[in-house]
Amino acid sequence: MNSPERIALCPADALVERGRGHVFDVRLWGQPARAFALRFDGRIVAYVNRCAHVPAELDWQPGEFLDLERRWIVCSIHGAVYEPSSGHCVAGPCVGKRLIPLRVDEVEAQVYWYPSRDVEPVTLDVPTPSTAPPP
Ligand code: FES
Repeated sequence: MNSPERIALCPADALVERGRGHVFDVRLWGQPARAFALRFDGRIVAYVNRCAHVPAELDWQPGEFLDLERRWIVCSIHGAVYEPSSGHCVAGPCVGKRLIPLRVDEVEAQVYWYPSRDVEPVTLDVPTPSTAPPP
């Protein structure tokens, strides 16, 4: 599928500095997954919501990705610690690995996501009889 140029995610003011993340559905390598965007040091960052240790979602409450000091992204399962700006794991069972980043941008009070070949938007790609391949 051809990815659209960009997709509106949420109003920019919905992402407060080191606040809750905006969670949304995606397709990672063709399979259902979720992703999140949050604001850290004034910049919007976004990643697939999948730990680099095992493929589990990170948030300890829906949309809550940061630790109590609001400094690190912390996996709720085994405590891997990620640098929010880069997605690199800096402590825990997957040091040296990183979260899968998504390209996002903030334009005129709106946050946009730019899908890629690996991380696409969720669509209802149900073949119609005229487009379905022959049996
Ligand atoms: S699943 Fe995230 S640290 Fe193990």
